[in-house]
Amino acid sequence: MHALDALLWILIICCATMNNPHQLLLASLPNGLRTRMEKAIQQFSIPNGNQDKWNKILEQLPTSKSKHISLHTPTITVGFEEDLDVEEQKLLQNNLQAFHPWRKGPFSFYGIKIDTEWRSDWKWDRLKEHITPLKGRKVLDVGCGSGYHCWRMYGAGASFVLGIDPSLLYWMQFRACKKLVQSCSSNPLPVFYAPIPMDAFPINTQYFNTVFSMGVLYHRRDPFSHLERLKHTLKKGGELVLETLIMDGPLHHCFVPEDRYAQMRNVWCIPSIPTLTLWLKRCGFCNIRTVDINQTSIKEQRKTSWMRFQSLVDFLDPEDINKTTEGYPAPKRAIIIANRP
Ligand SMILES: C[S@@+](CC[C@H](N)C(=O)[O-])C[C@H]1O[C@@H](n2cnc3c(N)ncnc32)[C@H](O)[C@@H]1O
Repeated sequence: MHALDALLWILIICCATMNNPHQLLLASLPNGLRTRMEKAIQQFSIPNGNQDKWNKILEQLPTSKSKHISLHTPTITVGFEEDLDVEEQKLLQNNLQAFHPWRKGPFSFYGIKIDTEWRSDWKWDRLKEHITPLKGRKVLDVGCGSGYHCWRMYGAGASFVLGIDPSLLYWMQFRACKKLVQSCSSNPLPVFYAPIPMDAFPINTQYFNTVFSMGVLYHRRDPFSHLERLKHTLKKGGELVLETLIMDGPLHHCFVPEDRYAQMRNVWCIPSIPTLTLWLKRCGFCNIRTVDINQTSIKEQRKTSWMRFQSLVDFLDPEDINKTTEGYPAPKRAIIIANRP
């Protein structure tokens, strides 16, 4: 692409996203799905008191200061420290800190390293060898948080990535990242985010080749309906990548905490792997296989200067880190892959 074309693209993207941040996403979808998506986004849009402040921050982010972007490495990276002067660095650091807490990452923007609460790259490393290669695939990431994994999916070759998550703060983190990445790229990037929950996502789209649902299932009161909805986003033969908390136990075992689990208020139901496999079978998935089981370590989820609240170590029994403060088994997570027949 010539420099003039690239400039024109950046201009078009800026104009389009200033008026409607979803315009480019909607334009990339086929007609029927576009209308349904537009309606879903409109219906779920909630005014937020921070929006003006957040928009100002987005406007102040540096544009086109570098050609260096890295989306296939553990740290999503844009630019080098030397691309900005000291004042620009300070402003960027303060602006990014305004989107605290940063939970999923890491990122590095112009040398500013966002050391997020989670080493989300470790989760990616655990699953990347097991999934169908993403090259040319349309991908949906349900409960995408800051969108860290969406960038890794695009970096791994996906042709279209859509993350959905109802959190407006995480949407801002994504928009900041997208603006920084896009302004240094000569092509429009097909990586999008809709700030809606799965329940608001159009049903039975059958549009995606791969759907990821990571860290969401145990937050759902009705796990079956979540799994059904995931299935209906997939084309025939499409792949589900499900990452979730599990409990050791036999078939039919499913743990329901009395109240909080690891201090989380919204954990409803944690199945054993045989139980989860049965749930997937009952929802019509086939070729179901568990590819990874991992007890979350206090090195993977921890407090940092970009997430200054309590973290995993505070949610575990100080005398026995294999137990939560409530006396339950410490968080263990599995990655299960399955297909839509
Ligand atoms: C534990 S985080 C997981 C983030 C990321 N997928 C990962 O694995 O690192 C759970 C995310 O799910 C989102 N979430 C909660 N309920 C949801 C729903 N009904 N639909 C979509 N996302 C939801 C939360 O806002 C949060 O960002």
